This record gives sequence, C-alpha cells and structure tokens, in this order.
Amino acid sequence: MSKFLSTLAVAGLLVSSTAVFADTATEGTATEATEAVETETMAIVVDADLAKKGAKVFKKCKACHKVGDKAKNATGPVLNGVFGRPVASFEGFKYSKNMKALGETGAVWDEANLIEFLTKPKNMVKKTKMSFAGLKKEKDRKAIIEFLKSVSVAE
Ligand code: HEC
Repeated sequence: MSKFLSTLAVAGLLVSSTAVFADTATEGTATEATEAVETETMAIVVDADLAKKGAKVFKKCKACHKVGDKAKNATGPVLNGVFGRPVASFEGFKYSKNMKALGETGAVWDEANLIEFLTKPKNMVKKTKMSFAGLKKEKDRKAIIEFLKSVSVAE
C-alpha cells in the first residue's frame, strides 16, 4: 500500500481538528498542530466521529474488501489508500473492462466519484464486477467516505 501513499503525496490528516499527521507519505511521523497543513497537493481532513460511524457501514463491504496492514485483494480490491487513488489501480487486482476504462480517463476516487459510485455502482460503471446495490442513505455514504479517508492516510 505504501506505493499508493507515496504516489498520492498525501500531505496531512486532521483528526478532531487538533492532531495533524504531517507528510505521512515520506516521514510517517505525527506532529501536533491546530490546523491542517496545506501543501501543493492536498490534505485529507478526517472527521473522526463520522469515520467511526463509517466503520459500521463498512460491515456491508467487508465480505469483499479488506483494509488494514495485512489486507489482501479478495473479491474486491484492497481499499487502503483508496481515497485519492486513481481508479482501477490497485496492484494485482483484476478489474472489469469498464472499471479499467474509467481508470484510463485519469479518474481518481475523490469525494464526488465515491458518492456517485457508492450510490449505485452499476449506474456509474456499467457491468462492474462489484455486485452491490449501493448505499441508499446519504448519511451512510458520507460516513463510509470518512472511513475510507481514515484508511487512506494511516500507515
Ligand atoms: C459483493 C462484493 C462487494 C461488495 C459487497 C462491495 N464491493 Fe466494492 N468492489 C467489488 C469488486 C469486485 C470491485 C471491482 C469492480 C470492477 O472491477 O468493476 C469493487 C470496487 C470498488 C471500488 C473501486 C476500487 C478501485 O481500486 O478502483 C471501491 C471504491 C469500492 N469497491 C468500495 C466499496 C464499498 C465502500 C463497499 C461497501 C459499501 C463495497 N465496495 C462493497 C466488490 C464488492
């Protein structure tokens, strides 16, 4: 997963508006600060409470997706680092034709794309291999995205 973190050049993580983990891509050291560090790329700001709710929503994804240190591709690709990651780019996963085609357009899993995909996967990516109806509730989508952000900065 460090491959993605380094290419991402994720700059900072703001948890509960107090702690900033600066430059996780290169140093992986945590420093305390009151503001997120803005860099030339982007800072991923995580709402820790919402991320906790998202961890519950993630139960719906767990059958197919793994996160964490020992995560391996399963029915679906590893989701560590997915926030900000180019579409269809996780090493060793065999994506569907249309997911690969979307990746080739340069699309990235930012907030807007995740919301669109997770609302109804088949609407955004026709014939996607992800057999999941979608998250109907907006609050579940917001929460899962926060959770995905939280597994996109930690190492
Ligand atoms: C039944 C298995 C299954 C479930 C449940 C599932 N997924 Fe997936 N997911 C997949 C598969 C398979 C793919 C690859 C799709 C393709 O190639 O078309 C995928 C792809 C993705 C991608 C794109 C990843 C990339 O590397 O481009 C994201 C993001 C994602 N899933 C998030 C979720 C989330 C969040 C949930 C729960 C709300 C979820 N998935 C539930 C199987 C699943």
